Amino acid sequence: MSRPTHIALRRGIVTLCRNMRALGLNHGMAGNVSARVAGGFLITPSARAYESMQPEDIVLMDNSGRYEGSLLPSSEWRMHAAILRARKDAEAVVHVHSPYATALSCLRLPIPSFHYMVAKAGGTNIRCSAYAPFGSDELARTMLVALKGRRACLLANHGMICFGPDLDHALLLATEVEALAMQYWLARCAGRPVLLSAADMQLVLARFSAYGKAPQELPEGFVNPLAPPQRRAAPASKRDATRRRRAPVNARPRPKRR
Ligand code: 13P
Repeated sequence: MSRPTHIALRRGIVTLCRNMRALGLNHGMAGNVSARVAGGFLITPSARAYESMQPEDIVLMDNSGRYEGSLLPSSEWRMHAAILRARKDAEAVVHVHSPYATALSCLRLPIPSFHYMVAKAGGTNIRCSAYAPFGSDELARTMLVALKGRRACLLANHGMICFGPDLDHALLLATEVEALAMQYWLARCAGRPVLLSAADMQLVLARFSAYGKAPQELPEGFVNPLAPPQRRAAPASKRDATRRRRAPVNARPRPKRR
């Protein structure tokens, strides 16, 4: 076999799959992961356990849906291809059957604005798609409808899918959506959660547009709604200050000892 291409990305996918398992987002062979490459994408193989998966097992697919190698690509390659085709902000896709997101998807319940972190998925709620059989074109289509303006959605009677600008961010979002699904579930068990209004959520979305960004990373003239504290120059270290006191700038150099 010739040496596989995109070796760093293949290793990244395998690491993500193992982390996904350790985080309790997936079990057994459930779920799949992909990452964009020039002319197509890399995707986990179908029906392979994550523990024994190796970088060379990751399957390369092209943009017309053909694959290379002896292992079949994930049966959900259509969902991955559809996201990578439709969403230019997607570089990596993660699909999981995580417990709480999947439980909500079986109740066909979207996650509403019960917590401000819902905005992490790009909007005021996280939708649940209409049901379609796994691996079908129809599932890819209903998923895209649920993902409109979002980076994550639940898949009816199935699980959850999300994407990000790289593998790490896609996994972070999957973890966040599963945490939100659990919190929403718990809140519903205890009563009727109070939802944030559309106006509250618009403020949250504006704040997230600047969240974690240093002033130099924001466009000029941008008024940061988070109003971060003022930055001051760091004081010179004590040692520097002592040296400066001992040796004034215009002091004559000491003669060398013989
Ligand atoms: P694959 O093993 O084919 O990726 O399928 C797993 C799955 O979760 C289908 O939805």
